[in-house]
Amino acid sequence: MNILLMGNGGREHALAWKLSQSQRFGKLWIAPGNPGTEIYGENISSAELDDPSQVLNIVQKKQVDLVVIGPEGPLELGISDVLRNENIPVFGPSKSAAQLETSKSFANTLMRDHGIDTAESQTFDSAERAINYVRALNGPCVIKANGLAAGKGVTVCDTIDEAIYAINESLTELRFGSAGSQIVVEERMYGWETSAHAFTDGITVRHMPFSCDHKPVFDENKGPNTGGMGVYSSPPHLKKTQQDFIETAVTEKLVSAMAAEGLTYQGTIYPGMMLTSSGPRVVEINARFGDPETEALMPRLKSDLIDIVEAVANQTLNDIHPEWSNEYSVGVIMASAGYPNSYTTGHLISGIEDTDDNVQVFLAGADRDEDNNLITAGGRVLCVVGTATTLEDAREITYDNVNRITFEGAHFRTDIGSL
Ligand code: AMP
Ligand code: GLY
Repeated sequence: MNILLMGNGGREHALAWKLSQSQRFGKLWIAPGNPGTEIYGENISSAELDDPSQVLNIVQKKQVDLVVIGPEGPLELGISDVLRNENIPVFGPSKSAAQLETSKSFANTLMRDHGIDTAESQTFDSAERAINYVRALNGPCVIKANGLAAGKGVTVCDTIDEAIYAINESLTELRFGSAGSQIVVEERMYGWETSAHAFTDGITVRHMPFSCDHKPVFDENKGPNTGGMGVYSSPPHLKKTQQDFIETAVTEKLVSAMAAEGLTYQGTIYPGMMLTSSGPRVVEINARFGDPETEALMPRLKSDLIDIVEAVANQTLNDIHPEWSNEYSVGVIMASAGYPNSYTTGHLISGIEDTDDNVQVFLAGADRDEDNNLITAGGRVLCVVGTATTLEDAREITYDNVNRITFEGAHFRTDIGSL
């Protein structure tokens, strides 16, 4: 099976690694990929992910059998639709089904119409009306750019002044461009968060283990939010009843709600959940694998990933029963100093060769210099993932290996996976 994988993060390195373990693994192209994905296939670094006709061209020229879409950008551009129109099997929802992630107002309306519990919200394109609404709420709220803002469009506010600042930033100063020309003002919820991933072909849903991302840049959840500084799976404090509720009353309900709206959803569906005092409530819905969640999930997947993605693309997921190991996994992101604000790149990465064989190092913001040395090239540079029969052991193994890797200014949280 020849596969084109789209994306260039740690998530795609983890997916490429797992795809390559399949008995049916043929050729793999990654567009654009990174030095980690290159281990398993050929990176097409010149690929413009925002040009559907170029993607189609690659697929036809390379005789690709199946396309796996990693990030949300290509989904929003309707790459899956262009490929499906040509009868090319795709893992990833259509542009209209991906609205679950690409339009917060679409997701909120769908959830409201189908009785899925999420924060109360209203959508605005006028700063004045949004500010009046926030004043009337007179309590903590969350301001979100309605469209995709590379994970940066959410401001959790304690005070009305913070909310007014965030509203003006998005609607008046257009800090997030057109993605923030409409905003959603939400009630603020309180509780711990968990990521609920599932494979679905629009009919059958196969749940993955739960995982927990750590978004703030510093220990104890301090500092600004990032794309994710670490992850662990599964959360031992998630009760069976909460798990069952999320799987049936959220994830499965979302898939059937989409089908009822005439939108077939094929890919990974990932509701971000908050465990509040009144039960689990949806924080956001993603139309793809999480990053760094994928890095912690793939080492636990015992089944063949090609069989699964193919069944999703061909709507035969009913025949597949993915198996997962009962081990815990902990993934720690090593980031560039300064991330998520400005940072420098081009620093030599060393020590990966000294890590244990059963520990995975998934590369993200990394590149090769002219002498083929591995260097930093982004904010989140790499993710180190260890697994063990207890969460504590998985943490210890991961941090032991993190400490063997160095680059100038490397920053990582020291509390990933501690409860
Ligand atoms: P998102 O980009 O939608 O995942 O939001 C980023 C983070 O903001 C989430 O992981 C939450 O920690 C926080 N957040 C988003 N919406 C809410 C909400 N309604 N109440 C409290 N926190 C929220
Ligand atoms: N882990 C957060 C995300 O992938 O959106």
